Amino acid sequence: MFRDIEKVLITRDKIAARVHDLGAQIARDLQSVLGDDHDHTNEVVLVSVLTGSIIFVADLVRQLPLKLSMGLVAVSSYPGTSMESKGVHMRSELPQNLTGKHVLVVDDILDSGQTLDVLSRLILEQKPASLRLAVLLRKPGKAKVPVHVDYVGFDIPDEFVVGYGLDYDGFYRNYPEIATLRPEAVARSQS
Ligand code: IMP
Ligand code: MG
Repeated sequence: MFRDIEKVLITRDKIAARVHDLGAQIARDLQSVLGDDHDHTNEVVLVSVLTGSIIFVADLVRQLPLKLSMGLVAVSSYPGTSMESKGVHMRSELPQNLTGKHVLVVDDILDSGQTLDVLSRLILEQKPASLRLAVLLRKPGKAKVPVHVDYVGFDIPDEFVVGYGLDYDGFYRNYPEIATLRPEAVARSQS
């Protein structure tokens, strides 16, 4: 199966180091907004955007020594073998208890920006105490809608990537590095 990988763009060691640093930065920022709210009345809720963010979230959340809860939302924009966004489809409801909470949304990649644009609007309707967006990857210049992300792991060239949670047609999420696919592998599944 991993014969389909063309080239590794970001190795597992680089990912691990960056996730560690991002975690430290996010933890510092959240600790400073929580201040001396020792009762955590303004609780932190991390919202993981399924399915692509699961591996990033699993690593990131263990770098956050804070009292927090986790929620999930399933969104799809690249159905099947498509390699560009087909518009955002919510596959599940957002967590419904975000009012007054410090919300951190975590996604795998910012591409057209539509996923995070839609999600942030819906979350803001619930009136959270604050909203922060974190992505592992960003393709600069691709955004169709302006979305302000607070935390970015890596900027990458405009190439379709898989691994560390990101898929092509549902596969390769378990590849441990960020990589591109051989054109033959793409052509095979599109035929
Ligand atoms: P956006 O709504 O166009 O910003 O797309 C975000 C979603 O598209 C991500 O959460 C991914 O699931 C998917 N996506 C965008 N680019 C890639 C890629 O290069 N590989 C795999 N999935 C991608
Ligand atoms: Mg996704």
